Amino acid sequence: MEEKISQIQKDYLEKIQKTKSLKELDEIFLALFGKNGQITLIPKGFSRIAKEELKTLAPLFIAAKNDLEKAIEKRRKEVREESYKALESEKLSLQGDALEPRKGHLHLATQFKQEIIELFEKLGFYQFDAPHVEWDKYNFEYLNIPRDHPSRDMWDTLYVDTSGLEVEPGQMLLRTHTSNFWPRLMEKGKTPIRAMSFDRCFRYEAIDARHSHTFNQFEVAVVGEKITMANLKFLSDYLLKAILGKEAKSRFRPKYYPFVEPGVGIDCLCVFCHGRGCKICSGTGWFEIAGAGMIHPNVFKSTGLDPKKYTGLAWGFGPDRMLMIKHEIEDIRYFLEGDLKFLQEH
Ligand code: DAH
Repeated sequence: MEEKISQIQKDYLEKIQKTKSLKELDEIFLALFGKNGQITLIPKGFSRIAKEELKTLAPLFIAAKNDLEKAIEKRRKEVREESYKALESEKLSLQGDALEPRKGHLHLATQFKQEIIELFEKLGFYQFDAPHVEWDKYNFEYLNIPRDHPSRDMWDTLYVDTSGLEVEPGQMLLRTHTSNFWPRLMEKGKTPIRAMSFDRCFRYEAIDARHSHTFNQFEVAVVGEKITMANLKFLSDYLLKAILGKEAKSRFRPKYYPFVEPGVGIDCLCVFCHGRGCKICSGTGWFEIAGAGMIHPNVFKSTGLDPKKYTGLAWGFGPDRMLMIKHEIEDIRYFLEGDLKFLQEH
């Protein structure tokens, strides 16, 4: 084990030194500290090691871990500096091509938003925007996620510091999902509801190629007297076929979300390998795209609607991820940065 740790340390320190971009550094970080990263996995073997041996092994492991973390951080700074230096020496040419007017276009994410909104407007859905800075009750409590309930751990939440305001601590937050829009509508009591929201959400996430503290969600909610899972299935296939082609279809898997019962995870048949298994679907033939379900009776009760009279469905998905799959974009950060090359290519 000792040898293994030193080997990983040595190999990766070399790799880190050779990197030329932040992207390469992110990949190394994931390979070491990701869910199945080489460093992450090591302590899992500690239970099989004698206590005495562990006394020398554990400090060695911690030192190697810190060493690698520091090396990545240091290299990150250097790579950034190097890219700034390169910029300094770039020359601005005002001749020839540079004078040609450049034609702009809408951002890929904006185009996608318009496409999806239009699709659902055709079915009679209207847009409803809920606040980004939200009260706890709409983001959680009305959604059957009480205070101090473990299900809150499903969302890493950014709370707003309200000291100095007449607001109880912990009551104001940045919404973690677009699901806050439908309890707001239900509370108004105007049924039937057929609404949608395509908007920003926020989570306490460290940024890397796949995670961001700011991201988009698209969500629909339908409340009425005879809404069923069949409607949910129709809407899922409708969206998938429209954006990924006729061959796309959905599959429901049971999944827990506190605000729906039954709750489902929705998978899409992988349109890249036709279900045979490829890199994009991690060999399974399907990729997960959305969470959905039938609105929980407790949500009806807390928003003042009668769960015996009404049923409803709610359905939400991450358009950024879908765009990444569709256009083979490897880094979610492109959606927030004004990288000119990326903007021109897409
Ligand atoms: N709000 C969930 C999330 O951000 C996604 C979701 C799951 C939305 C199930 C729904 C739903 O409308 O029914 O993780």
